[in-house]
This record gives sequence, structure tokens and C-alpha cells, in this order.
Amino acid sequence: MDRRKFLATSGVATLGAKIVSNSLAADGKPVREKPLKADYWGPEFYDEKERQELLDVHSSHRPFRWYGPGDQPPMKVASFEKEFAARMQTRFALAVTSGTAALQTALAALEVGPGDEVILPAWTWHSCFNSIVLAGALPVFAEIDESFNIDPADIESKITPQTRVIMVAHLQGNPCDMDRIITIATKGRLKVLEDCAQSVGASYGGRPLGSIGHIGIYSLQINKTITAGEGGAVVTNDPVLFERAARFHDLGALRPLHEKVAGQSRIGWFVGPNFRMNEFSGGVLLAQLGKLDAIVDAVRRNARRVYQGIRDLPGLRLRHLPDPEGELGAAIFLGFTTKEQRDRYISAMRAENVPAQPPGGSVILPILPHIEKKVTVHPAWPSFTSQRGKAIGYGSGCCPRTIDILNRFAGVPMDPKFTVNDTDDVVAAIRKVYPTIVRAS
Ligand SMILES: Cc1ncc(COP(=O)(O)O)c(C=O)c1O
Repeated sequence: MDRRKFLATSGVATLGAKIVSNSLAADGKPVREKPLKADYWGPEFYDEKERQELLDVHSSHRPFRWYGPGDQPPMKVASFEKEFAARMQTRFALAVTSGTAALQTALAALEVGPGDEVILPAWTWHSCFNSIVLAGALPVFAEIDESFNIDPADIESKITPQTRVIMVAHLQGNPCDMDRIITIATKGRLKVLEDCAQSVGASYGGRPLGSIGHIGIYSLQINKTITAGEGGAVVTNDPVLFERAARFHDLGALRPLHEKVAGQSRIGWFVGPNFRMNEFSGGVLLAQLGKLDAIVDAVRRNARRVYQGIRDLPGLRLRHLPDPEGELGAAIFLGFTTKEQRDRYISAMRAENVPAQPPGGSVILPILPHIEKKVTVHPAWPSFTSQRGKAIGYGSGCCPRTIDILNRFAGVPMDPKFTVNDTDDVVAAIRKVYPTIVRAS
């Protein structure tokens, strides 16, 4: 099931918005004749480079990263790790099978377990909550602000003596307010895990996302900036965190290559799953990584053309951007006073054949029935058996502000391959629709 279908069946991603999409442009003349469509970025850039990487692995007969027939290892995953660390300006990078695996690996590296609390945003992807529970720890939700990312002020109110980690997620290409988050974490002696799944290639204060906290993770699944269909990565500057991550993702072993990268082994075996990446994925990701900056530059350029074209609109309310230079520009989000207004905007934009939608790609986690009921794989799962775990309440009561904000914003998705005409049409549609909706309020 693709993510759109998955989100549709999960029934919460669009916050119950019933938006009429077949209404006509108010003046009978839509801005575009045919609907504008944003696509999957990474695959739009697939060419001979990805094909050649796959052929290299195929002809080597060594799809497994550690060994195989012959004496010519393709070393695709190893090369990807080296180049990814360089791009993200971290000492170490580890390739894994998915962003979810990367989150589990990062939490294991940070030694998070039963009795520990991890603060996460109420609006993010399932993997964030699931990875904390799978570590046996207790997820504690904080509200988002108008950046759609975790609200630093609310983090402070959620810290207890059991809090170990702040899991921040840079959602839909937009960096979190990292200066404030790092200050809070330093004061509370907490670790910061940056989830950059939805913002691969974005930056904050000129630094690549993922390199600012203690450990960072990325997803390389099809909805992300670059992709091999599935894939993930963990980055850190700390050799002990790197060794723990490398061991965890590979059953507890530290292979000679990773021992060399770490400089030496500092810890022994412990128990872990198998999240190793295969060489075919490594090859495709190596080719995609070579295009990351071109993809990011193109999508940012398109978003900036739109921002520039609408900046003089009276009363314009954009999503809060803690670092406008660093965001990807994945979508142009505008805010409204009410949900009704927002839904009318979406409907009117679609009538102009320009896509607009509520914030997407994440879920308001605390209101999912299985989360509210704390359903785990076993009734004695340690996350919820402690006094605190039993007492903690999820549900809509723990995130009213998150629900309100997400109900009042809508975005036009951007694509690196949009033409100047496409972005002109986005500007024209927003200029035609937004003022009339805002004025009518
Ligand atoms: C914020 C966030 N974190 C983690 C993940 C997990 O990544 P993956 O799908 O590669 O497991 C996703 C996936 O969409 C995500 O959006």
C-alpha cells in the first residue's frame, strides 16, 4: 500500500477534512487547464547513474555488504556511508534498512530502555512513537507550534526526572528551532535525537540537519528527498554512539570496517536485530546522494519563486520557518483563522487546478485508538507497566493546540521539476484565491 493509500485508510492524516475538489473556478477560467501534480522527487532523477550502480552489483555477484563470491567487493554501502557522513558534516554515518530501523538504532545507541521517557511531537510519523515503545521506554507527547514541529516551550513542561531524550522531527522540509531545543537539552542534561526523515538535505544555521543534536536519522523511502525505495541512515559525531549503533544494527557485532571507522572498539557485544543495508540499495543511494544538492537547490528555487510572488499579499500568514534559508520548501503552507476558511481555500485552489492540501505525511499520534489504549505486542510490555506508564494519558486532551493548528493550514506541494510556468501558476492561483477567502472572513 503506498503512503497516500496508507494515510487514507489510517483515517486521520487529513484530520477529517472533507474537501470538495470538483468545484469550478469562481470566474469559470481556472488558472491552469490541467491539474498541476507534484511527484516523487528521488525517482524523478533516476537515470543511467542508478542503472550503472545496479549493474555493478549485479556483475559482482556480491549483493551482501560484508562478503560474497570473488575478490571484487562493490563496497556500495561502505561508499555511501562515507559520502553521506561527508555531506551531513558528521564523523560517522551508518546505513540501515529504513528510517524506522534508524530510529530504533539511534535509541539503542543512546541506551534508551525501560524506565526512560522520550519526548516527541504529537504530530509526526508512527515510527517515532513505535521506536520508543519498541525500546521499552515511555513516549511523552509535546505540542507542535505553527512550524508544525515540536514546540520548544512545551518540551520544557514535559521534562521529568525520567526524561532521557528529546526526539525532534524536522517535518515536511522545515527545520525545528534547534537553538532553543539545544539550550533546553543542555540545561536538562538530555540527549537530542534529530529525525530528519522528511527533511533530507535541509539545514539550520548553515549546518545540515542531523548534525546538530547528539545523533540524527534519515529515511530514504520513496516519499523522501532521495530514495532506493526503502533505506535509512544514522549519523553522529560520537564514536561510542557510532559503535553502539553499528553493533545494534548487526546483531551486536562490530565488523572490521566499522571498527576501522570508529578507530577502535570501546564496548562489547550486546543483543540487536539485523538492519543491514544490501549493496543494490547502497548503489542506488550512492547515485542519488550525488544528486541531493541538485534536487534540494531545484525545489528551494521553486519555493522561493512562490514566496517571492505572494509576499505582498495583505494579511499573509505563512507556516513559521525557524530558518527560511535552510528549509527545503517542500510545500507552501498558508494559515487561516478557521478550518472552514482553510477548507474553502483548498477547494478553490483545486478548482484552479493547483493542488492544495492539509498538512500531510504525519499523523496526530495521541488520538489513534491503539495509542490511546496503549496496545503493544504483549500485555507486560515495559513501556506501560510502571506507575508512570499506567498513569500517562494520551488522546485529544494532550494535544489540543496541535489539532487546532493542523486544522487551520493548507499547503501547495512543491516539486524540483516544476517549471517557471508551473510556479507562476501557483502564484497566480494563490493571488486569486487567498485574498478572497481571507477578506470574506
Ligand atoms: C518523521 C518520520 N520519521 C521516521 C520515518 C520512518 O521512515 P521509514 O518509512 O523509512 O521507515 C518517517 C517515514 O515517513 C517519517 O516521516
